[in-house]
Amino acid sequence: MSYTKKRILVTGGAGFLGSHLCERLLTDGHDVLAVDNYFTGRRDNVAHLLSHPSFEIMRHDVTFPLYVEVDEIYNLACPASPVHYQFDPVQTTKVSVVGAINMLGLAKRVKAKVFQASTSEVYGDPTVHPQTEDYRGSVNPIGPRACYDEGKRCAETLFFDYHRQHKLRIKVARIFNTYGPRMHPNDGRVVSNFIVQALRGEDITIFGDGMQTRAFCYVDDLIEGFVRLMATGDEITGPINLGNPLEIPMLQLAERVTALTGAKSKLVFRPLPVDDPMQRCPDISKAKTILKWQPAIDLDHGLRSTITYFKTLFSA
Ligand SMILES: NC(=O)c1ccc[n+]([C@@H]2O[C@H](COP(=O)([O-])OP(=O)(O)OC[C@H]3O[C@@H](n4cnc5c(N)ncnc54)[C@H](O)[C@@H]3O)[C@@H](O)[C@H]2O)c1
Repeated sequence: MSYTKKRILVTGGAGFLGSHLCERLLTDGHDVLAVDNYFTGRRDNVAHLLSHPSFEIMRHDVTFPLYVEVDEIYNLACPASPVHYQFDPVQTTKVSVVGAINMLGLAKRVKAKVFQASTSEVYGDPTVHPQTEDYRGSVNPIGPRACYDEGKRCAETLFFDYHRQHKLRIKVARIFNTYGPRMHPNDGRVVSNFIVQALRGEDITIFGDGMQTRAFCYVDDLIEGFVRLMATGDEITGPINLGNPLEIPMLQLAERVTALTGAKSKLVFRPLPVDDPMQRCPDISKAKTILKWQPAIDLDHGLRSTITYFKTLFSA
């Protein structure tokens, strides 16, 4: 793909997905401004970019207004894993909602195109499988996950109202489980949990009977989807599901991780957390048609590079 050089703001730029996105945008020749309050993100995630002449990082909390001149905004700032977003649930809703208002206000002022990192959590514990974008979801508005799910749902509402009311150019991606290097080691998400436990020689914890399925997308595939969505014409707003439709039971994932790490860990079973969906899987027909996108990296390849990352992290 060929690009003209743009000034691009990435909120949550020191996080897992944000750092990969910054890297990709710099590779594509753009000027990148990452903004992060380091709640779950780390400077280490972008340490290799700090000397890049087109990269800048600013400590800033998106619940406060930001005044910068940019052509495009990727709004990723928000803790993504349940342990992190449930740590301070009021702040989580604030980041999603007030953060979105601030980024939409900025986009309106500088006439920038704006991308929202929404989530499959807007579907809640779904009653249809796989989930298409027109499924309206089944979210418990008063449960422990609601701060995130409802925050992200409200952010989508704001994006579409700014689009209708102010003709803002918006791109809303509904991201499904993604994994890869720079995931937070203690964020409780299943891929990093299993790998960290295996590398430490600890038992691998499986919630429920391990037959619940998840579908995992490798980070490089996801970032390709982001960039393609941002590059679409103004008539494309989303929401568009981005994720891997290949479902795998948790038990099988644990077995792949033990095989690839060579760990001797035992599998131990614990009760399912409240409101944990049994199954979630994207229908990516829209992404295939509109973006000509689908995941290309297979699970073993993705797991190997994630395992290598955690090995390096733990030996540092
Ligand atoms: N990783 C996934 O599987 C997944 C799935 C669905 C949606 N998403 C969405 O993608 C985005 C990035 O997720 P991630 O996995 O990289 O998580 P992450 O926690 O690694 O990254 C989030 C980043 O936002 C920053 N942040 C949090 N609150 C902030 C604030 N008030 N101001 C500025 N920065 C703030 C954090 O410090 C962190 O760097 C999130 O919006 C998340 O909801 C991720």
